[in-house]
Amino acid sequence: MKNLKDKVVALTGAASGIGRCLAIQLADKGCHLALADVDENGLQETTKLLATSVKVSTHIVNVANKDRVYAWADEVVAKHGHVDVVINNAGVASTARLDEISYEDFDWVFNIVFYGVLYGTKAFLPYLKQRNEANIVNISSVNAFFPFPNNGPYNAAKHAVKGLNQTFMQELRNTNVNITSVHPGGIKTNIVRNARFIEGGVDKGKKVREFDKVAGTSPEKAAEIIIGGLVKNRKRQLVGKDAVVIDLLVRLFPQGFSDLVGLAFDLEAKKSQ
Ligand SMILES: NC(=O)c1ccc[n+]([C@@H]2O[C@H](COP(=O)([O-])OP(=O)(O)OC[C@H]3O[C@@H](n4cnc5c(N)ncnc54)[C@H](O)[C@@H]3O)[C@@H](O)[C@H]2O)c1
Repeated sequence: MKNLKDKVVALTGAASGIGRCLAIQLADKGCHLALADVDENGLQETTKLLATSVKVSTHIVNVANKDRVYAWADEVVAKHGHVDVVINNAGVASTARLDEISYEDFDWVFNIVFYGVLYGTKAFLPYLKQRNEANIVNISSVNAFFPFPNNGPYNAAKHAVKGLNQTFMQELRNTNVNITSVHPGGIKTNIVRNARFIEGGVDKGKKVREFDKVAGTSPEKAAEIIIGGLVKNRKRQLVGKDAVVIDLLVRLFPQGFSDLVGLAFDLEAKKSQ
């Protein structure tokens, strides 16, 4: 989608981080926005930061609620007349070992990260097919091709999102709808602050500080790269130098790299005991 001016973009997770920066930059490019999130205050904060020349609607949507996502797609078309792009960006994480995490926390992550993207893609697809040109941008992660310990449900859900994206690409070949599968590395956002931790497990404050140190890309830069991928109709978009390095290491040492990271996490856990 070379020209974003006057395009209608539906975006989830717009109240914080990458989503907020996407909203600001898309508005600057002349896109009209339908912004969704569960965080009403954050959503209002985002709208205050947007160029005033574009039409903006805000919607309280829990992406894990299928009926709500389908109703939102209808609302977007009722408010804006049509929709050209959907960006399924909302996401959450947890920090706990798979043998310790509750099914409730596992499902919380999986339902938002995987089903949120599935619902958001399928609900908007009939509307997108009505346009001459349309795009779906689904935010996955480097965790889709490299799982990090303590992130079991997130790793599984992001792998599943990648599989979904590639399947949609195959099935929508030669249609008007392009799909971009986005794989960011560490982006300095609220993702760890908003994550669920188990009682007596990893120290949340420490984890947040560590993440803020290692997350090498700002959400502003991430949004810039994602929009770059959208205008170039890229099928796969890595975000951040760490994502490029991880992608390479996984190709070179598919098992060895994983074993090494597992060992490093083990040693780190023993040190903090
Ligand atoms: N930050 C990173 O290092 C990183 C790396 C790879 C991928 N990602 C992905 O980027 C996307 C954006 O995350 P972020 O880093 O900006 O985090 P963030 O926590 O700053 O923003 C996530 C947004 O999603 C919203 N959200 C959470 N649950 C929701 C639900 N059920 N329905 C609707 N909205 C909901 C939150 O309210 C928040 O506004 C996520 O899909 C995340 O998995 C982030």
